[in-house]
Amino acid sequence: MKLTPQQVAFFNTFGYLGIPNFFTPEETAAIIEEFEWAIQHQGGQNHDGSRRTMFGGPIEHRARQCAILDMPKVKGLIGGAIGDDFSYTGGDGNYYSGDTGWHPDGSWGRLFAVKVAFYLDPLTRDTGCLRVIPGSHRPDHYLRKDQVNPNNAQELFGLHPRDFPGNVALETQPGDILMFNHDTYHAAFGGSTRRRMFTMNCIRHAHTPEDLAVVRHYVSIHSAGGYNLETGAGAFFPAMVHSANESRWTHLRQVAEMHDSLYPHLAPKNLGKVKIVRREVSALVPPAPGIPLADATLPGPTLAFQPANPEHFGLLSVRKIHEGNPGLVYVRVVFRVEHPCQVTIHYGTDAPTKVWLNGETIETRADAAGPLAPAQFQVTHAATDGENEAVFAVDTRGGKAAGVIPAFVVNA
Ligand SMILES: [Fe+2]
Repeated sequence: MKLTPQQVAFFNTFGYLGIPNFFTPEETAAIIEEFEWAIQHQGGQNHDGSRRTMFGGPIEHRARQCAILDMPKVKGLIGGAIGDDFSYTGGDGNYYSGDTGWHPDGSWGRLFAVKVAFYLDPLTRDTGCLRVIPGSHRPDHYLRKDQVNPNNAQELFGLHPRDFPGNVALETQPGDILMFNHDTYHAAFGGSTRRRMFTMNCIRHAHTPEDLAVVRHYVSIHSAGGYNLETGAGAFFPAMVHSANESRWTHLRQVAEMHDSLYPHLAPKNLGKVKIVRREVSALVPPAPGIPLADATLPGPTLAFQPANPEHFGLLSVRKIHEGNPGLVYVRVVFRVEHPCQVTIHYGTDAPTKVWLNGETIETRADAAGPLAPAQFQVTHAATDGENEAVFAVDTRGGKAAGVIPAFVVNA
């Protein structure tokens, strides 16, 4: 299936497109069966309706559902919007509960990313169907230009946000499909506490260095590594990768390679070689005027440390430690390897940082100043079998530093 010129024009003008009866009843039944299997194995068995249950890569857990990405009509739909060589980037599966409020999924300022949405229950305007504000993907739309927040419609205009002028309720039956530009404002209001829906996100394939930088930024955030998730197969869950033929790889490869360069410790070939034993951040050490970062020493035995949990990107945040104050915060990661080896530390930091491994200074980045991204810097050093201790001294940059994104990869 190819989109008609009218469908393409509709999508480009209004920022969304709905196609009723896109899937046959047989296809729809299989899609629902696979969705239920996947969500039941990903936390859905505990869904009690009090909040949304969400899981990653809803089409990536069994080969039959992965094959959605091989269906000519699905490829025709997405390809018609963003090019036949589009990249699939993942998605989310949900038992939805409650309203979502108005939001765009991105603000790219151009047609870069689309979301394809599958609603698996009949939904009407009163029972939580998707709503969109047509044209709101455009940078010159009044919502964006004048920074009107439709969620504040009550106080701004005396209207419930559900009644925001011009919004369209996209009522659907199972088997229908919806696609929208990530920049399009959308929401859902009302409805049951177990609305089944899942999405596929897709982006344009990059052909220029500028576009590649945009893809890199996107993948650094919206990917398994960005969510600090170990799939077992890098950017995608194993079934998606292992059941892929060359044609499907067209839609996986650029994102998979980008993901593994940003998050090399999650790349399939590196899994299981490094075991993180613990992650910690220290208390704030007040600034020592006149002593450059390069002369900073390892933390003394009396400095207090606390456990740190990785956030988005795998970030070990120092924000709550410095609370906007100048000084140094130490980030310590103890990891274990099986054999003596060379380890490359891939790290991101948005502040001047000094790095030690097993008590030895291995690098000083006095000029690091952000923006923060994973794997901005690499340093390789020998590691011993058993436990190794990496320490990062982070200058809070006057209280602005976010922290360090550390990753450890055993060199082959
Ligand atoms: Fe959304």
